[in-house]
Amino acid sequence: MPSPFLTPGPIAQANDVALLHLRRDQTIPTILRDYDDENQGYKEGKVSNTRFGSFPHSTLIDQPWGSQIVASKVDTGSRGRKGLAGKRKADEIEASPTTTGAEEDSSSLKKPVAATSGFLHLMYPTPESWTLSLPHRTQVVYTPDYSYVLHRLRARPGGTVIEAGAGSGSFTHAAVRAVFSGYPNEESVAKKPRIGKVCSFEFHEQRAGRVKEEITQHGLDGLVQVTHRDVYEDGFLLGDPKTGRSPKATAIFLDLPAPWLALKHLVRKPASGAESPLDPSSTAHLCTFSPCLEQVERTIRVMRQLGWLNISMVEVNHNRIDVKRERIGLDCEGIRGSTVFPRSVDEALAKLRTDDERAKKIRQGHVDGIQGDTSFQEETARIPKEQSGPTYSLGRLVHRSESEIKTHTSYLVFAILPRDWSEEDEQKCRQKWPSSKLEAEEKAPKKSRKQMKKEFRELRLQEQKEDQEQQAADVNTDE
Ligand SMILES: C[S@@+](CC[C@H](N)C(=O)[O-])C[C@H]1O[C@@H](n2cnc3c(N)ncnc32)[C@H](O)[C@@H]1O
Repeated sequence: MPSPFLTPGPIAQANDVALLHLRRDQTIPTILRDYDDENQGYKEGKVSNTRFGSFPHSTLIDQPWGSQIVASKVDTGSRGRKGLAGKRKADEIEASPTTTGAEEDSSSLKKPVAATSGFLHLMYPTPESWTLSLPHRTQVVYTPDYSYVLHRLRARPGGTVIEAGAGSGSFTHAAVRAVFSGYPNEESVAKKPRIGKVCSFEFHEQRAGRVKEEITQHGLDGLVQVTHRDVYEDGFLLGDPKTGRSPKATAIFLDLPAPWLALKHLVRKPASGAESPLDPSSTAHLCTFSPCLEQVERTIRVMRQLGWLNISMVEVNHNRIDVKRERIGLDCEGIRGSTVFPRSVDEALAKLRTDDERAKKIRQGHVDGIQGDTSFQEETARIPKEQSGPTYSLGRLVHRSESEIKTHTSYLVFAILPRDWSEEDEQKCRQKWPSSKLEAEEKAPKKSRKQMKKEFRELRLQEQKEDQEQQAADVNTDE
C-alpha cells in the first residue's frame, strides 16, 4: 500500500491515515475505515466525533484531499446495544475469511444525513502535521529542529538513516520522507542501486511496538525498520546484534539520554570484530540531540577519541511571530480582538463630557438614556475617525513573538567520520578519473638530485646573462 505520507494521490482512500483539520493548530489523526473497526455502534459505520460535529468515514472516503466536509447527523440509537442489524463488529469482519469487512459492511451502512452546521477539512498527513497531532509517548523532536538536522545530515533520496531512540516516531516520519526514493517492491526502483531507508532503534518495548504499528498503518513498512534494542549494549546491526546485517548508514541521529555510550558501535572497525553499521563507501554524518551541556561535553569528548571530525554544536531557537491588526477605540465595541478604550485624548474627553452630562441630567431628574447616548455620538462625531476601507486593513499593524516556543530545546552536536581510504581505493580513483598532467609526470624518466641541481644552476646563469644583456642594451639607448 503506498503511504499517504509520501505519495498521497488525489483522493482519500479507505485504510489511509488522514488528518481531520478543525482549525489552525487543531488536527485529529484517524485511519479511514469503511467498517466500524472500533465497535462504536453507529449505523453509519466508523464515525469521528469532533467539537464541530460528527463525521462518518463514508463521507470522507473517496473525497479529494483538501475537501471541506460537512458534519452529519448520526444515528446514535444503536450505541451500546449489542447485536443490532446494520452494526457489524470489527472482530466479526476480521474473522470472516471470505469477504472483507469493507465489501459486506459498507452495503449495510446507513446513509449519513448532513447536519445544519459544522465542517472540517480532510488533509493528507505530512511529517509536520503528524508531529503536531501524534500521540505523545515521549518528548518529540519538532519541525524546526528536524528540518535543520536532516539538512546537516545530508539526508537525501536513497540514503540510509539510523535513528535511536524512536520515541514517539516524530523524527522517523521526517527522516523517511527525506530519504524516500521509491517503494521496495516497485519495478523502477529495482534498477536503482539503493532505496532510502530508516533503521530505527528503541529500548522501551511498548514504545517500539507502537511505532511498529504506526509504521504499518502509515504504509511505511519496508522503508522504516523498527528494532527493539538497547543500542548502548547491542549497537546498530539489523537482526542479530553480533552477526546481523549492516544497515550501511550514511547518517545517524541519536536522541538518547547518553549518546556517548552508543558511539563505540559507530566506528569503521568495531572492537568486537562485528561489521560496521556505517556505509564503507561514504562519509558518515552524525547528530546528537541533548538538553544539557554536560551531555554535550561528554559526547564531544568521546567523538574526538573515536576520530569524528568537524565537530560543532548548534541550538535552534525557533520563534513564531504573530502579525495582526490592532484596533483601539470606543467605536470598536463588538469587534473581535479589538480594545474598547479611548483611542485619543479627544475621544477620552468626549466620553468624559458625555458621562458628565448624563450624570447631571440624572441628578436633575431628566433621565433619558437614548438622549445620553445621542449626545456621546454627537461629541465623538467631531473626532477624526480611523481611516475607512475594508475591515482587514483597519487598525495598526503590530507583531508579537509567540510566548510559548514549541520546540524541545536541545543542543545539536554534529560531526562527520570520513570513509577509510586504502591504496586500492586510490588506484581505483585514478583509473576512474585519470589526470593527464599526473600521468605525463609519471611517464617522464626520473632525474637524480645532482642532475636537478645542475639544471637549476644552468637556468639561473642563463637568467643572469639575459639580465646583463638587457641592462647593456638600456644604457646604449639612453646615450
Ligand atoms: C526523547 S525520546 C526520542 C523521541 C524521538 N526522537 C521523536 O522524535 O519522537 C528518547 C527515546 O530513547 C529511548 N532510549 C533510551 N535509551 C535507549 C537505549 N539505550 N537504546 C535505545 N533506545 C533508548 C527511550 O526509550 C525514548 O523513547
